[in-house]
Amino acid sequence: MTLPRVLMLAASVAVLAACSKKAEEAETREVEVSSIPDEANGAPGGEQEAAWSQLTTEESRDPFTYSNYEDVRVTHVDLDLAVDFGTKTLSGTATLDFRRLSDEAGALVLDANDLTIETVEAHVSGDWLTAAYTLGADDPVMGSRLEIALPAGADRVRVAYATSPEAEGIQWLSAEQTAGKEHPFLFTQFQPLLARTMAPLQDTPAVRITYDARITTPPALIAIMSARQDESGERDGDYSFKMSQPIPSYLLALAVGDIEFEAISANVGVYAEDYIVEPAAAEFEDTPKMVDAIEALYGPYRWGRYDLLVLPPSFPFGGMENPRLSFMTPTLVAGDKSLTNVVAHELAHSWSGNLVTNATWRDAWLNEGFTTYVENRTMEALYGPERAAMERALDKKSLMDDVAAAERPELTALKMPADLAHPDDAFSDVSYAGGMFFLKFLETRFGRAVFDEFLKAYFAHYAFQSITTEDFLSYFEDNLWAENPEAVTKEEIDAWIYKPGFPDTIENPQSDAFEKVQDQLDAWLGGGDVAGLETGAWTAHEWLYFIGAFPDNIGVEKLTALDGRFGLSQSQNAEIASAWYLKAIPAGYEPAFAPLEGFLMRVGRGKFIYPLYTSLIKNGRREWADSVYQRARPGYHPIAQKRIDEVFAG
Ligand code: BES
Ligand code: ZN
Repeated sequence: MTLPRVLMLAASVAVLAACSKKAEEAETREVEVSSIPDEANGAPGGEQEAAWSQLTTEESRDPFTYSNYEDVRVTHVDLDLAVDFGTKTLSGTATLDFRRLSDEAGALVLDANDLTIETVEAHVSGDWLTAAYTLGADDPVMGSRLEIALPAGADRVRVAYATSPEAEGIQWLSAEQTAGKEHPFLFTQFQPLLARTMAPLQDTPAVRITYDARITTPPALIAIMSARQDESGERDGDYSFKMSQPIPSYLLALAVGDIEFEAISANVGVYAEDYIVEPAAAEFEDTPKMVDAIEALYGPYRWGRYDLLVLPPSFPFGGMENPRLSFMTPTLVAGDKSLTNVVAHELAHSWSGNLVTNATWRDAWLNEGFTTYVENRTMEALYGPERAAMERALDKKSLMDDVAAAERPELTALKMPADLAHPDDAFSDVSYAGGMFFLKFLETRFGRAVFDEFLKAYFAHYAFQSITTEDFLSYFEDNLWAENPEAVTKEEIDAWIYKPGFPDTIENPQSDAFEKVQDQLDAWLGGGDVAGLETGAWTAHEWLYFIGAFPDNIGVEKLTALDGRFGLSQSQNAEIASAWYLKAIPAGYEPAFAPLEGFLMRVGRGKFIYPLYTSLIKNGRREWADSVYQRARPGYHPIAQKRIDEVFAG
C-alpha cells in the first residue's frame, strides 16, 4: 500500500439581510492588516550561529508554480465573472495589481489551467493597452505557463478569459444532482493548486493577495465566497465580495446554488441547501464556543465572521478551511456531534494555515500538523481530556499503520522531500497526526503554559505571512528553546522533522474507555457471545476503535453476529459505516454489499471512497466495483473522478 494522500486519511432573503447586518458588527473585530511582506519571511538572524540554517531562495522556492513571484509580486486580484450553468463556464475578467521586486522584470508569469484566454491588457499611466502574451503547453499537474510581456510603467494587467466545463477545481452539479432538484449548484475546491483552473494567478502559497469579486448568477441563486459579502443581501443574481486580508490563492472559494442560511450566533452561521440547514446548525451549535476557546489560547480570530457551508455529498473532503467560510461535507451531520472535530479543525486553520501559511507544500505540516494540534486542544477545551485522548489514540493508530505501510520512507518525515511528485503527496497522516504529535512532544517538554504562550506569539509574529519549516525552527530556537535549553536536544528535534518515521518520544495516548473496549473485544473474540457485549454507553469513537481493532481474519461468522445485533451495515454515521465496510470487504461478508453500493452512490468524500474502491479491487471485486463506479462517477467531483480512475488503472 502506498502512503495515502489526504483523501485517504486519512437563507432566506430576510435572514440573509439580518445576517449581513450582524456581519457589519462583527467586522469591527477584524484586526487591521498593515502591510504585505515583500518576501516569504525569514526569521531575524542572531549573532550566534543558528542551530538550523535558513534555506536559500532556490531551496525555499515553490516548484509547483510557473510564476516569477521572486521578481514580480501580485498583490490584489479583482474578479468579474458571470456564472453560466448552460455552458458550465465562468467568464469575464481577472485584473491583477502587482509590484515589481526586480527592476529587470519585463514579464509577469502566471499559472493557468484549462483557461481560454481572450485578451490580455496592461495598464500604463491610466490607459489599457493590448499586451503580448504566450500560453505554454498543458502539464497534467502544473497546467500552463501564461507569460505576459510588461510594458515599461505597467502596474496592472487585465485578462479576459473563460474557464473550462472540465475545470478540475470546479464541480458543476445539475438540478437533479442536488437535494432540492430544482436548481443547479457549483462549488470550487482549490487547495493545493487548482485556483489556476478558475483564474490566471500566481498560484502558490508563497504569494498572498487581497481580492474583490463581482459574480453574476441566475437570479434565483445566491453566490457566496471566502470573503465579506456586500451588504444588499438581495437575491438578485448580482453579488460583490471583498477579502481585505491577504490570503494565498488556494483559499479563494466560490459556491453558487439555492442556498439557505441559519444563524448559530451573531458571528457564526450555516449555509446549506434547505433540507439540511437546520440539522447542520444544530450539529454545529458549539462552533461559537470553539471560536472562544481558540481565541483564549492563541489570540484573536482575525477574519470577521465565521460561517460553515455544508455542501452536497459529492464534496471530496471532510472540510476545507476557506477563510470566513469553511466548506464542509454533509457526512458530518451525524445527529450526535460525534464528528465535529472536523469543524474544530477547519476553524483552527484560521490561525494555522490561513494566518500563518506554509510557503511551499513541502512544509504542509506547518498547516496541517499545527491545525490538528489546535483542533485537539479545542476538543479538549470543549469536551474534556478523555475525548481528546480518544481522538489522538485513533490518530496515532492510523499514523503508525501508514508509516509501517509507506513505500517511500522520505515521505514519513515532517519536512517533505524536494522531489515531491504532486503537492497532494504532502497531505498524509504524517503531516496531520505526525505534526500534532511533534507539537505534543514540545508541549510536554516545555510545559503547557509556556508552550501555549509560545504558539500564541508565533501566530502573531508570522500573521499574514508564508513561512518554511526552517523559519519555524529558527523562531522556535530564539523564542522557546533559548529560554530552556535543557528541555530538548537538537538531535531530538531533527529526528522529528528530518528523519523518516517517528521517534519513540512520540506520545502514547491513554484512553480508559478504549482499554475497556479492547477488553470486551478480546473476550468476544476469545469465544464470548455477542449478547455479552455491553455497548449501550459507547460513543461513535468507541465504535471506531472497536471496528478498527478487528483482526484481519475476523471471518464472516463474527461479522454476521455483530451485524445481526447492531445493524452496522446500515449505520448512518459515515465514519462507522465506512470502517465497517473496510472489514466486510476482505472478509467477503455479502450482506454489507447492498448498503455499500448505496453508500458509494451517495457519498463522494475521498477519505471514504478511495480506500473502499481500493479494497474492492484488491479483494477480487473489481467487476462489481466497476459497475458501481460507472453509475456513481457522474456524481463525483472531478478530483475524485481522477483519483478513482487512477485506482482502477492500477
Ligand atoms: N486543508 C484540508 C483539506 C485539503 C488538503 C484539501 C489538501 C486539498 C488538499 C482540510 O483542512 C482537511 O484537512 N480536511 C480533513 C479533515 C481533518 C479533520 C483531517 C478532511 O477533509 O478529511
Ligand atoms: Zn486541514
